[in-house]
This record gives sequence, C-alpha cells and structure tokens, in this order.
Amino acid sequence: MSNDAFSTLMFALDPPMVIVTVAATGGRAGCLVSFHAQSSIDPERYCVWLSKANYTYDVALQTDHLAIHFLTADDLPLAELFGSQSGDTVDKFAGLQVTEGPGGVPLLAQCPRWLAARRIALLDDGGDHVTVLTEPVTAQVSGPFTPLRLAQAAHIRPGHRYRERHHLDA
Ligand SMILES: Cc1cc2nc3c(=O)[nH]c(=O)nc-3n(C[C@H](O)[C@H](O)[C@H](O)COP(=O)(O)O)c2cc1C
Repeated sequence: MSNDAFSTLMFALDPPMVIVTVAATGGRAGCLVSFHAQSSIDPERYCVWLSKANYTYDVALQTDHLAIHFLTADDLPLAELFGSQSGDTVDKFAGLQVTEGPGGVPLLAQCPRWLAARRIALLDDGGDHVTVLTEPVTAQVSGPFTPLRLAQAAHIRPGHRYRERHHLDA
C-alpha cells in the first residue's frame, strides 16, 4: 500500500480536534487527540485512540473515566499547550480553571463542549496507539460551534512522538 496515498486520504478528512483528560492518584493528565469517533448508536459508544508514548496514556490506564473536550477555532492556544507539552515535565493544568466530572475526571472550564465517558474496553493490537472504547456518561454542549480541525493544528509539534515507546526510527 502507498503510505503517501494513505496519509493524503487521512489528512483530507481533516478531523475535529479534542483534548482528552484523565485523573488518577498520581495526578491529572491530558493531551490533544485527532483519533476519535462515535463507534455505536445503540448503545452509544465513543472511541479515542491514545499513543503509548504519552503521559496521558499512562494515567488513563489507572482510571476508568475520561473526558473528551471538543475544541473550537478559538481554542488553538489550548490545543498547542496540550499537544506540544508533556505531563512528564509540565503541569498543563496550572493556571487553568478545572472542575471535577464523573469519577473525578478533570473538566476544562474553557471548553464547555465535552463528553465524560467510562472506559469499558481497551484494545492493544501491538500498534503505537491503543483503542479506548467508552460508554458516554454525561455530556455538555453550549450552542453551535465551529470545530478546530487538524489542518489548523498541523503545525503543532507533539510533546511525544508516537514511535518513542517502540524504538523505531522516526
Ligand atoms: C495534531 C496532533 C494530533 C494528535 N493526535 C493524537 C492522538 O490522536 N492520540 C494521541 O494519543 N496523541 C495525539 N497527539 C499527540 C499528543 O497530543 C502529544 O504528544 C502530547 O504532547 C502528549 O502529552 P502527554 O505526554 O502529556 O500525554 C497529537 C498531537 C498533535 C499535534
């Protein structure tokens, strides 16, 4: 298969960007995510795919709740923070207004469009990202919004490269 064609197709989809947050006894974590989708209508299911390289993944393994914040074009600075820094070295939540959702999951007050969900399965097929299958618990939305899309966030250098855990050449 042509990797170029695959990349071209995937980039053309221009998915909306979200920030996934989690919390466990070790603390809070969150990262910018472009891999996410509704995966069932009845019952409602939502999947996110987390990179094994990310601090957020490590914390996500210690809790069964996560929040998915749907970003608008105005949230680019927040996308840059959560996409370019790592919780390994930085407290991304410092200075942000945060409340607690179901299971203690951190909710970013700045992003009032979110889905709080409970993890019901993990699928690790040996790739660099792991499927987190969730059951939505509660959601909030405040009116129509224009999603922040991948093309607008493509300049962000990820805090962790997806291959870091795999000892592959990047
Ligand atoms: C445009 C863009 C899309 C990204 N999509 C994902 C994704 O779908 N899943 C993921 O786990 N990380 C994704 N990342 C990477 C993380 O957001 C990034 O490595 C972050 O700094 C990790 O933070 P952490 O180590 O605190 O978890 C993306 C980054 C960018 C810039």
